[in-house]
Amino acid sequence: MITPSDFSEQYESLINRPVLAKAADFQRQERLTHVIFAQQFDRDMLNHLCSTASMIRQISRHRQGQDFLTGLLSHKRAMLYFTQASTRTFLSFMAACQILGMTCNEIRDPTTSSEFKGESPLDSMRMFSSYFDVVIMRSNMAKFAESCAYLMNELASQGRRSVPVVNAGSGADEHPTQALLDIYTIQRTFEFSSQKDNARQSRFDTLRRRYPELNKGLENKTYGFCGDVGRGRTVRSLTTLLALWPGVRFNFIYPNYDKLAPYADMLTRLEEAGVGIEHSHSLPDVINRLDMLYMTRIQHEHDTDADRRFFETFDAAQFTLYPELLSKMREYCPILHPFPRNQEIPFEIDSDPRAMYFRQARNGMWIRAALLAHLFDVDGKIGAFHQKNYGA
Ligand code: NCD
Repeated sequence: MITPSDFSEQYESLINRPVLAKAADFQRQERLTHVIFAQQFDRDMLNHLCSTASMIRQISRHRQGQDFLTGLLSHKRAMLYFTQASTRTFLSFMAACQILGMTCNEIRDPTTSSEFKGESPLDSMRMFSSYFDVVIMRSNMAKFAESCAYLMNELASQGRRSVPVVNAGSGADEHPTQALLDIYTIQRTFEFSSQKDNARQSRFDTLRRRYPELNKGLENKTYGFCGDVGRGRTVRSLTTLLALWPGVRFNFIYPNYDKLAPYADMLTRLEEAGVGIEHSHSLPDVINRLDMLYMTRIQHEHDTDADRRFFETFDAAQFTLYPELLSKMREYCPILHPFPRNQEIPFEIDSDPRAMYFRQARNGMWIRAALLAHLFDVDGKIGAFHQKNYGA
Protein backbone atom coordinates (compact mmCIF):
# COMPACT_ATOMS: atom_id res chain seq x y z
CA MET A 1 0.00 0.00 0.00
CA ILE A 2 1.53 3.30 -1.09
CA THR A 3 0.92 6.25 1.19
CA PRO A 4 1.03 9.94 0.27
CA SER A 5 4.27 10.39 2.22
CA ASP A 6 6.06 7.95 -0.10
CA PHE A 7 6.02 10.45 -2.89
CA SER A 8 5.36 13.77 -1.17
CA GLU A 9 8.56 13.37 0.90
CA GLN A 10 10.53 13.50 -2.29
CA TYR A 11 9.06 16.90 -3.11
CA GLU A 12 8.30 18.08 0.42
CA SER A 13 10.43 21.21 0.25
CA LEU A 14 8.74 22.23 -3.00
CA ILE A 15 5.24 21.44 -1.71
CA ASN A 16 5.76 23.50 1.44
CA ARG A 17 6.53 26.77 -0.36
CA PRO A 18 4.08 29.70 -0.50
CA VAL A 19 1.46 29.12 -3.15
CA LEU A 20 2.52 31.97 -5.42
CA ALA A 21 6.09 30.66 -5.60
CA LYS A 22 4.70 27.27 -6.55
CA ALA A 23 2.37 28.70 -9.18
CA ALA A 24 5.38 30.16 -10.99
CA ASP A 25 6.67 26.60 -11.49
CA PHE A 26 3.49 25.63 -13.30
CA GLN A 27 3.43 28.25 -16.02
CA ARG A 28 5.52 29.70 -18.81
CA GLN A 29 4.81 33.38 -19.38
CA GLU A 30 1.01 33.67 -19.56
CA ARG A 31 0.41 30.01 -20.31
CA LEU A 32 -0.09 27.25 -17.74
CA THR A 33 2.09 24.18 -18.10
CA HIS A 34 0.33 22.16 -15.36
CA VAL A 35 -3.05 22.71 -13.68
CA ILE A 36 -2.74 21.81 -10.01
CA PHE A 37 -4.59 24.31 -7.81
CA ALA A 38 -7.14 27.09 -8.20
CA GLN A 39 -4.74 29.84 -7.16
CA GLN A 40 -2.98 29.52 -10.52
CA PHE A 41 -5.86 31.37 -12.19
CA ASP A 42 -6.41 35.11 -12.26
CA ARG A 43 -9.46 36.95 -13.55
CA ASP A 44 -8.02 37.64 -17.00
CA MET A 45 -7.21 34.00 -17.49
CA LEU A 46 -10.65 32.93 -16.26
CA ASN A 47 -12.40 35.39 -18.56
CA HIS A 48 -10.30 34.18 -21.46
CA LEU A 49 -11.07 30.51 -20.73
CA CYS A 50 -14.80 31.26 -20.41
CA SER A 51 -14.82 33.09 -23.71
CA THR A 52 -12.88 30.26 -25.43
CA ALA A 53 -15.39 27.78 -23.96
CA SER A 54 -18.29 29.79 -25.41
CA MET A 55 -16.59 29.94 -28.81
CA ILE A 56 -16.02 26.18 -28.81
CA ARG A 57 -19.67 25.70 -27.89
CA GLN A 58 -20.84 27.85 -30.76
CA ILE A 59 -18.37 26.41 -33.29
CA SER A 60 -19.45 22.85 -32.35
CA ARG A 61 -23.00 23.48 -33.51
CA HIS A 62 -22.06 22.90 -37.15
CA ARG A 63 -20.35 20.06 -38.91
CA GLN A 64 -17.74 22.32 -40.51
CA GLY A 65 -16.91 23.73 -37.06
CA GLN A 66 -16.67 20.27 -35.52
CA ASP A 67 -14.25 19.24 -38.26
CA PHE A 68 -12.14 22.32 -37.58
CA LEU A 69 -12.03 21.57 -33.84
CA THR A 70 -11.18 17.87 -34.19
CA GLY A 71 -8.29 18.81 -36.46
CA LEU A 72 -6.67 20.97 -33.77
CA LEU A 73 -5.19 18.26 -31.51
CA SER A 74 -5.62 15.08 -33.57
CA HIS A 75 -1.88 14.49 -33.18
CA LYS A 76 -2.11 14.38 -29.35
CA ARG A 77 -2.93 11.56 -26.95
CA ALA A 78 -4.37 11.97 -23.44
CA MET A 79 -4.09 9.62 -20.46
CA LEU A 80 -7.01 9.76 -18.05
CA TYR A 81 -5.53 8.34 -14.86
CA PHE A 82 -8.52 8.21 -12.49
CA THR A 83 -7.94 5.91 -9.55
CA GLN A 84 -10.73 7.54 -7.52
CA ALA A 85 -14.41 7.29 -8.43
CA SER A 86 -15.68 9.76 -11.00
CA THR A 87 -18.52 10.09 -13.49
CA ARG A 88 -18.80 13.70 -14.69
CA THR A 89 -15.19 14.77 -14.43
CA PHE A 90 -13.95 11.68 -16.24
CA LEU A 91 -16.58 11.77 -18.98
CA SER A 92 -16.45 15.50 -19.54
CA PHE A 93 -12.66 15.43 -19.84
CA MET A 94 -12.98 12.54 -22.29
CA ALA A 95 -15.61 14.45 -24.29
CA ALA A 96 -13.43 17.59 -24.17
CA CYS A 97 -10.48 15.63 -25.58
CA GLN A 98 -12.72 14.23 -28.30
CA ILE A 99 -14.04 17.69 -29.25
CA LEU A 100 -10.43 18.69 -29.99
CA GLY A 101 -9.66 15.43 -31.78
CA MET A 102 -7.37 13.93 -29.11
CA THR A 103 -7.17 10.20 -28.58
CA CYS A 104 -8.06 9.16 -25.02
CA ASN A 105 -6.75 6.29 -22.95
CA GLU A 106 -7.60 5.46 -19.38
CA ILE A 107 -6.58 3.75 -16.17
CA ARG A 108 -9.38 3.75 -13.64
CA ASP A 109 -8.65 0.67 -11.64
CA PRO A 110 -5.09 0.44 -10.25
CA THR A 111 -5.46 -3.34 -9.90
CA THR A 112 -5.20 -3.54 -13.70
CA SER A 113 -1.89 -1.65 -13.75
CA SER A 114 1.55 -2.50 -12.42
CA GLU A 115 0.82 -0.48 -9.28
CA PHE A 116 -0.83 -3.70 -8.18
CA LYS A 117 2.62 -5.31 -8.34
CA GLY A 118 4.05 -2.56 -6.17
CA GLU A 119 5.07 -0.06 -8.81
CA SER A 120 5.29 3.43 -7.37
CA PRO A 121 2.66 5.85 -8.71
CA LEU A 122 5.51 8.20 -9.63
CA ASP A 123 7.02 5.49 -11.84
CA SER A 124 3.59 4.96 -13.41
CA MET A 125 3.42 8.67 -14.05
CA ARG A 126 6.77 8.73 -15.79
CA MET A 127 5.66 5.85 -17.98
CA PHE A 128 2.48 7.71 -18.94
CA SER A 129 4.57 10.67 -19.97
CA SER A 130 6.49 8.40 -22.37
CA TYR A 131 3.36 7.35 -24.21
CA PHE A 132 0.98 10.31 -23.91
CA ASP A 133 0.96 14.08 -24.33
CA VAL A 134 -1.04 15.06 -21.24
CA VAL A 135 -1.98 13.25 -18.02
CA ILE A 136 -5.34 14.16 -16.51
CA MET A 137 -5.50 12.59 -13.06
CA ARG A 138 -7.75 12.06 -10.07
CA SER A 139 -6.48 10.50 -6.89
CA ASN A 140 -7.61 10.21 -3.31
CA MET A 141 -4.13 11.34 -2.25
CA ALA A 142 -3.77 15.05 -1.61
CA LYS A 143 -0.63 16.53 -3.24
CA PHE A 144 -0.09 13.58 -5.55
CA ALA A 145 -0.94 15.60 -8.70
CA GLU A 146 1.36 18.35 -7.44
CA SER A 147 4.19 15.85 -6.90
CA CYS A 148 3.66 14.54 -10.44
CA ALA A 149 3.99 18.07 -11.79
CA TYR A 150 7.35 18.46 -9.96
CA LEU A 151 8.47 15.14 -11.40
CA MET A 152 7.62 16.42 -14.90
CA ASN A 153 9.49 19.67 -14.25
CA GLU A 154 12.52 17.73 -13.02
CA LEU A 155 12.50 15.66 -16.22
CA ALA A 156 12.13 18.79 -18.35
CA SER A 157 15.11 20.39 -16.60
CA GLN A 158 17.19 17.33 -17.56
CA GLY A 159 16.10 17.74 -21.18
CA ARG A 160 13.85 14.69 -20.93
CA ARG A 161 10.29 14.18 -22.06
CA SER A 162 7.74 15.93 -19.87
CA VAL A 163 4.00 16.48 -20.34
CA PRO A 164 1.32 18.68 -18.70
CA VAL A 165 -0.38 17.31 -15.57
CA VAL A 166 -3.99 18.28 -14.93
CA ASN A 167 -5.44 17.76 -11.46
CA ALA A 168 -8.97 16.41 -11.80
CA GLY A 169 -9.46 16.13 -8.01
CA SER A 170 -6.83 15.39 -5.36
CA GLY A 171 -8.01 14.07 -2.00
CA ALA A 172 -9.94 16.58 0.08
CA ASP A 173 -7.54 19.14 -1.22
CA GLU A 174 -8.30 20.75 -4.59
CA HIS A 175 -10.50 20.36 -7.64
CA PRO A 176 -9.46 23.29 -9.83
CA THR A 177 -11.24 22.28 -13.03
CA GLN A 178 -14.55 21.86 -11.19
CA ALA A 179 -14.07 25.45 -10.03
CA LEU A 180 -13.59 26.49 -13.66
CA LEU A 181 -16.90 25.02 -14.72
CA ASP A 182 -18.62 26.50 -11.67
CA ILE A 183 -17.26 29.96 -12.52
CA TYR A 184 -18.32 29.53 -16.15
CA THR A 185 -21.84 28.54 -15.07
CA ILE A 186 -22.19 31.46 -12.65
CA GLN A 187 -20.79 33.85 -15.21
CA ARG A 188 -23.26 32.68 -17.84
CA THR A 189 -26.13 33.04 -15.37
CA PHE A 190 -25.20 36.61 -14.49
CA GLU A 191 -24.63 37.64 -18.08
CA PHE A 192 -28.43 37.63 -18.19
CA SER A 193 -28.29 36.95 -21.88
CA SER A 194 -30.67 34.08 -22.34
CA GLN A 195 -32.02 33.56 -25.83
CA LYS A 196 -35.28 35.16 -24.75
CA ASP A 197 -33.47 38.44 -24.17
CA ASN A 198 -33.68 41.14 -26.77
CA ALA A 199 -32.99 44.83 -26.85
CA ARG A 200 -36.48 45.82 -25.76
CA GLN A 201 -37.03 43.41 -22.93
CA SER A 202 -34.33 41.39 -21.25
CA ARG A 203 -34.73 39.12 -18.28
CA PHE A 204 -32.10 41.20 -16.56
CA ASP A 205 -34.06 44.41 -17.06
CA THR A 206 -37.17 42.86 -15.56
CA LEU A 207 -35.22 41.54 -12.61
CA ARG A 208 -33.39 44.80 -12.13
CA ARG A 209 -36.64 46.58 -11.49
CA ARG A 210 -37.42 44.13 -8.71
CA TYR A 211 -33.84 43.85 -7.43
CA PRO A 212 -32.24 47.29 -7.85
CA GLU A 213 -28.96 46.10 -6.29
CA LEU A 214 -28.47 43.35 -8.84
CA ASN A 215 -25.56 43.84 -11.22
CA LYS A 216 -24.33 41.78 -14.14
CA GLY A 217 -21.20 39.72 -13.57
CA LEU A 218 -19.74 37.95 -10.56
CA GLU A 219 -18.90 40.92 -8.37
CA ASN A 220 -20.95 42.24 -5.42
CA LYS A 221 -22.84 39.05 -4.75
CA THR A 222 -23.65 36.84 -1.78
CA TYR A 223 -22.70 33.24 -2.51
CA GLY A 224 -24.11 30.49 -0.29
CA PHE A 225 -22.30 27.16 0.20
CA CYS A 226 -24.40 24.52 1.91
CA GLY A 227 -23.52 21.05 3.24
CA ASP A 228 -20.11 19.52 3.88
CA VAL A 229 -18.15 22.73 3.55
CA GLY A 230 -15.14 21.28 5.37
CA ARG A 231 -14.41 18.09 3.51
CA GLY A 232 -15.63 19.03 0.03
CA ARG A 233 -12.75 20.00 -2.24
CA THR A 234 -15.03 21.74 -4.75
CA VAL A 235 -15.90 24.49 -2.25
CA ARG A 236 -12.24 25.09 -1.47
CA SER A 237 -11.36 25.57 -5.11
CA LEU A 238 -14.45 27.58 -6.09
CA THR A 239 -14.25 30.04 -3.19
CA THR A 240 -10.60 30.70 -4.14
CA LEU A 241 -11.68 31.78 -7.61
CA LEU A 242 -14.77 33.76 -6.59
CA ALA A 243 -12.65 35.73 -4.12
CA LEU A 244 -10.90 37.29 -7.13
CA TRP A 245 -14.00 39.42 -7.77
CA PRO A 246 -14.66 42.57 -5.71
CA GLY A 247 -17.48 42.84 -3.21
CA VAL A 248 -18.16 39.12 -2.84
CA ARG A 249 -19.65 37.73 0.36
CA PHE A 250 -19.75 34.05 1.31
CA ASN A 251 -22.37 32.45 3.50
CA PHE A 252 -21.21 29.04 4.72
CA ILE A 253 -24.15 26.88 5.82
CA TYR A 254 -23.07 23.64 7.50
CA PRO A 255 -23.92 21.30 10.37
CA ASN A 256 -22.57 22.33 13.73
CA TYR A 257 -19.77 19.76 13.68
CA ASP A 258 -16.09 20.67 13.39
CA LYS A 259 -15.15 18.51 10.43
CA LEU A 260 -17.92 19.87 8.26
CA ALA A 261 -17.02 23.49 8.99
CA PRO A 262 -14.83 25.50 6.60
CA TYR A 263 -11.17 24.90 7.41
CA ALA A 264 -9.23 27.68 9.13
CA ASP A 265 -6.62 28.02 6.38
CA MET A 266 -9.34 28.64 3.81
CA LEU A 267 -11.10 31.20 6.02
CA THR A 268 -7.87 33.09 6.67
CA ARG A 269 -7.05 33.17 2.98
CA LEU A 270 -10.53 34.42 2.08
CA GLU A 271 -10.52 37.06 4.80
CA GLU A 272 -7.15 38.30 3.57
CA ALA A 273 -8.65 38.57 0.09
CA GLY A 274 -11.31 40.89 1.56
CA VAL A 275 -14.27 38.50 1.34
CA GLY A 276 -17.12 39.11 3.82
CA ILE A 277 -17.88 35.81 5.56
CA GLU A 278 -20.96 34.66 7.44
CA HIS A 279 -21.64 31.29 9.06
CA SER A 280 -25.00 29.63 9.52
CA HIS A 281 -26.40 26.25 10.54
CA SER A 282 -29.71 26.52 8.73
CA LEU A 283 -30.41 26.92 5.02
CA PRO A 284 -34.02 28.15 5.51
CA ASP A 285 -32.72 31.00 7.71
CA VAL A 286 -30.51 32.53 5.02
CA ILE A 287 -31.85 31.32 1.68
CA ASN A 288 -33.71 34.57 0.91
CA ARG A 289 -30.45 36.54 1.06
CA LEU A 290 -28.43 34.50 -1.44
CA ASP A 291 -27.55 35.44 -5.01
CA MET A 292 -26.29 31.92 -5.71
CA LEU A 293 -26.70 28.65 -3.83
CA TYR A 294 -24.02 25.95 -4.08
CA MET A 295 -25.32 22.70 -2.58
CA THR A 296 -22.99 19.83 -1.65
CA ARG A 297 -23.46 16.32 -0.31
CA ILE A 298 -22.08 15.10 3.00
CA GLN A 299 -18.81 13.31 2.12
CA HIS A 300 -19.47 10.14 4.13
CA GLU A 301 -16.53 8.29 2.56
CA HIS A 302 -14.25 10.28 4.92
CA ASP A 303 -16.21 9.36 8.08
CA THR A 304 -14.46 7.92 11.11
CA ASP A 305 -16.30 5.90 13.77
CA ALA A 306 -16.83 9.11 15.77
CA ASP A 307 -18.29 10.82 12.70
CA ARG A 308 -20.64 7.88 12.11
CA ARG A 309 -21.90 8.23 15.69
CA PHE A 310 -22.57 11.92 15.05
CA PHE A 311 -24.50 11.15 11.88
CA GLU A 312 -26.71 8.57 13.65
CA THR A 313 -28.65 11.42 15.25
CA PHE A 314 -27.98 14.07 12.63
CA ASP A 315 -31.01 15.84 11.16
CA ALA A 316 -30.30 16.80 7.52
CA ALA A 317 -33.43 18.96 7.23
CA GLN A 318 -31.58 22.24 7.74
CA PHE A 319 -29.28 21.42 4.82
CA THR A 320 -31.86 20.14 2.35
CA LEU A 321 -33.35 22.24 -0.41
CA TYR A 322 -36.99 21.27 0.10
CA PRO A 323 -39.40 22.48 -2.63
CA GLU A 324 -41.12 24.71 -0.03
CA LEU A 325 -37.94 26.78 0.14
CA LEU A 326 -38.04 27.75 -3.54
CA SER A 327 -40.57 30.53 -2.96
CA LYS A 328 -38.22 32.11 -0.41
CA MET A 329 -35.33 32.24 -2.88
CA ARG A 330 -34.59 35.18 -5.15
CA GLU A 331 -36.04 34.65 -8.61
CA TYR A 332 -32.66 34.70 -10.32
CA CYS A 333 -30.64 32.73 -7.72
CA PRO A 334 -28.96 29.83 -9.56
CA ILE A 335 -28.76 26.47 -7.77
CA LEU A 336 -25.49 24.66 -8.41
CA HIS A 337 -24.23 21.29 -7.21
CA PRO A 338 -21.02 19.55 -8.30
CA PHE A 339 -22.82 16.17 -8.07
CA PRO A 340 -23.20 13.38 -7.19
CA ARG A 341 -26.17 14.43 -5.08
CA ASN A 342 -27.70 12.45 -2.27
CA GLN A 343 -30.93 13.73 -0.69
CA GLU A 344 -29.95 17.39 -0.34
CA ILE A 345 -31.66 18.33 -3.62
CA PRO A 346 -34.92 16.40 -4.11
CA PHE A 347 -35.82 15.54 -7.72
CA GLU A 348 -38.80 17.95 -7.66
CA ILE A 349 -36.33 20.85 -7.77
CA ASP A 350 -34.96 19.78 -11.16
CA SER A 351 -37.73 21.44 -13.15
CA ASP A 352 -37.24 24.84 -11.50
CA PRO A 353 -35.57 27.27 -13.95
CA ARG A 354 -32.99 28.12 -11.27
CA ALA A 355 -31.70 24.52 -11.15
CA MET A 356 -28.42 24.78 -13.05
CA TYR A 357 -26.71 21.54 -12.10
CA PHE A 358 -27.26 19.65 -15.35
CA ARG A 359 -26.21 22.65 -17.42
CA GLN A 360 -23.29 23.06 -15.04
CA ALA A 361 -22.11 19.50 -15.78
CA ARG A 362 -22.35 20.13 -19.54
CA ASN A 363 -20.44 23.38 -19.11
CA GLY A 364 -17.63 21.22 -17.71
CA MET A 365 -17.10 19.73 -21.13
CA TRP A 366 -16.76 23.14 -22.83
CA ILE A 367 -14.49 24.72 -20.25
CA ARG A 368 -12.27 21.62 -20.08
CA ALA A 369 -11.95 21.74 -23.87
CA ALA A 370 -10.97 25.42 -23.49
CA LEU A 371 -8.38 24.46 -20.85
CA LEU A 372 -6.83 21.80 -23.10
CA ALA A 373 -6.78 24.34 -25.96
CA HIS A 374 -4.94 26.73 -23.62
CA LEU A 375 -2.41 24.06 -22.53
CA PHE A 376 -1.64 23.13 -26.14
CA ASP A 377 -1.66 26.71 -27.36
CA VAL A 378 -4.46 26.35 -29.93
CA ASP A 379 -6.88 28.82 -28.30
CA GLY A 380 -5.60 31.52 -30.67
CA LYS A 381 -6.64 29.37 -33.65
CA ILE A 382 -10.10 28.94 -32.10
CA GLY A 383 -10.42 32.71 -31.66
CA ALA A 384 -9.37 33.33 -35.28
CA PHE A 385 -11.81 30.72 -36.64
CA HIS A 386 -14.59 32.18 -34.54
CA GLN A 387 -13.83 35.71 -35.68
CA LYS A 388 -13.81 34.67 -39.33
CA ASN A 389 -17.07 32.73 -39.15
CA TYR A 390 -19.11 34.49 -36.49
CA GLY A 391 -17.69 38.01 -36.35
CA ALA A 392 -16.80 39.84 -33.14
C1 NCD B 1 -17.06 16.18 -6.73
C2 NCD B 1 -15.73 15.60 -6.41
O1 NCD B 1 -15.40 14.51 -6.84
O2 NCD B 1 -15.01 16.28 -5.70
N1 NCD B 1 -17.68 15.74 -7.87
C3 NCD B 1 -17.25 16.16 -9.11
O3 NCD B 1 -16.10 16.11 -9.45
N2 NCD B 1 -18.18 16.66 -9.94
C4 NCD B 1 -17.95 16.32 -5.57
C5 NCD B 1 -18.24 15.14 -4.68
O4 NCD B 1 -17.69 14.06 -4.79
O5 NCD B 1 -19.08 15.34 -3.81
